[in-house]
Amino acid sequence: MDKISKEILFSKDAIQKRVRELADQISKDYEGKELIVIGILKGAFIFMADLIREISIPCRVDFARLASYGAGSESSGKVVMTKDIETSIKDKDILIVEDILDTGLTMQYLVDWLEERNPRSLKICVFLDKRKRRKVSFEADYVGFTIEDGFVVGYGLDFNEKYRFSPDIYVIKQ
Ligand code: IMP
Repeated sequence: MDKISKEILFSKDAIQKRVRELADQISKDYEGKELIVIGILKGAFIFMADLIREISIPCRVDFARLASYGAGSESSGKVVMTKDIETSIKDKDILIVEDILDTGLTMQYLVDWLEERNPRSLKICVFLDKRKRRKVSFEADYVGFTIEDGFVVGYGLDFNEKYRFSPDIYVIKQ
């Protein structure tokens, strides 16, 4: 994996525009309500920070941490929760915010986990959706962009903890 080259997929400007559109839609859909936004660490922290600053309704935030990828670009397939949320979500409106939906195994695990706590509503917002790689039948309620298979980095997404800081999103080419 030494010789990595990257090809730009979404520029900072394209990302900002799409985040605003998602935030507008979410603000309309939840008008008059208070939202609890749950970000999945680590990848979602940048998208979530941008999104909640564009959302015009009051929202509270919390984070869960789930891991399915080991080192490298292939999922281990086994999801582990390493940090639970700290907020009571019973009878609340919940929006899960995630960087990317790939096989869907991570999201399925978290949704099952949160549903047990009886929220009033539970929706999912992902910035990127690799729909073709899904292993569980699962659709997000809000999607930034649908992408083809390929490993992407930047805007919070990493490869071996690298490239998270990049304001643009790239596809890795080996
Ligand atoms: P899933 O459980 O297969 O849907 O994987 C979801 C998690 O895998 C995401 O939260 C990311 O952390 C990671 N992931 C999946 N695809 C990529 C990618 O292309 N780049 C970086 N991380 C990815």
